[in-house]
Amino acid sequence: MSSGAGASAAETIAHAGPAGDLAVPTERLRRQIEALFAAWCGPDHARASAEVLVEADLMGIDSHGITLVQLYEELVTAGKIARDARVGVVRGFGAVAVVDGGGGFGHAPSLRAMDLAVEKARAFGVGAVGVRNSNHFGAAGVYALRAARAGMIGLATSAVHMPSIVPVFGRVPRLGTNPIAFAAPGAEGEPFLLDIATSTIAIGKLKLASRKGQRLPDGYALDAEGRPQNDPDAALRDRLMTPLGGDRAMGGHKGYGLAAMVEVLSTLLTGASYAPLRAADAPHYDVGHFFLALNPEAFRDDDGAGADGFAHDLDAFVACLRETPPAAGCEAVLAPGDPEHAVRAVRTREGIPIPRSLVERVRGIAAERGADFLLEEPAG
Ligand SMILES: NC(=O)c1ccc[n+]([C@@H]2O[C@H](COP(=O)([O-])OP(=O)(O)OC[C@H]3O[C@@H](n4cnc5c(N)ncnc54)[C@H](O)[C@@H]3O)[C@@H](O)[C@H]2O)c1
Repeated sequence: MSSGAGASAAETIAHAGPAGDLAVPTERLRRQIEALFAAWCGPDHARASAEVLVEADLMGIDSHGITLVQLYEELVTAGKIARDARVGVVRGFGAVAVVDGGGGFGHAPSLRAMDLAVEKARAFGVGAVGVRNSNHFGAAGVYALRAARAGMIGLATSAVHMPSIVPVFGRVPRLGTNPIAFAAPGAEGEPFLLDIATSTIAIGKLKLASRKGQRLPDGYALDAEGRPQNDPDAALRDRLMTPLGGDRAMGGHKGYGLAAMVEVLSTLLTGASYAPLRAADAPHYDVGHFFLALNPEAFRDDDGAGADGFAHDLDAFVACLRETPPAAGCEAVLAPGDPEHAVRAVRTREGIPIPRSLVERVRGIAAERGADFLLEEPAG
């Protein structure tokens, strides 16, 4: 990662994982995830899905790495994922295209869509590609970062098959935790990367509070009357999340608006299904995603600046953010993306930590599906 005050602060929060976790090398993790997906839906999808989940685990986005195989096993068992789904471009005009995910997992059509957006941005300065008839696509940041690694500014958004965000002043969910990821390339430094759900906290953090027996502060989740819910188990059961910010006084209307914006781009623009209005007997969830790539070269003068000019300016910009004088009791200011880049450096070296309970769950799913179990080296 690049140097700067934020770099060392980010490194202090990067860790391989708690003692007792199994540290799994990247390549072995990739083969394990591929084996599971191949059993669920065939080899082509397996490669793409493994790539996305391993990237999330490498970056420390543990809620969206191999742990997702538990959710995916449920979706496959419920018949919500098409086996051998055919992914194809169904519309294309200039800088715009639409990819149909064929009712399968969201990773393969999403990688295809972002790659196509990048290709179009090289040709036209901008590429905008929607995906419909898809499913859960993992961590949005993986796709935005892919564009940045190709020298583009990248934006990735997704709807979710199940609504859980309650609009401000409401008491029923109307939006998913609809993630937004935005990445921009640096010259020497790692890309800027903002990758967030549009709920105040991610569902994974409710699970953590439940495991630790902690009460939730007001503003994270709601009860059936729209009042604050402080019991994490009830919050997990009811899935009534506040939009980013919390209530109106804390700016929840802004998170609500952002979640709705994601739905407009990911669902309405692409022609996917809006979950609250989807027919109860629809065979698939028909989730939508949206990918945008912008080519800095198309915007900047080519007087020795060009794309490199943008990337150098980005480095200077994030360095300035990191040099913000820290608040009392804080070590340093970080730039968005610093924590993920720091964790990646550690995990590439030391392996990806997987809690023993998850290792056993993976062993069980592999046995159930007739896939190889590869997380642990064979004894002897
Ligand atoms: N596929 C889906 O349906 C779905 C739905 C919701 C969320 N997600 C994913 O869940 C993941 C977690 O989302 P989340 O909302 O819990 O993220 P989060 O609250 O952990 O925030 C992560 C973002 O904040 C930045 N960040 C963290 N600390 C920072 C600091 N001190 N200064 C500056 N930046 C900082 C990180 O670099 C990163 O960009 C994301 O990858 C998201 O895409 C996916």
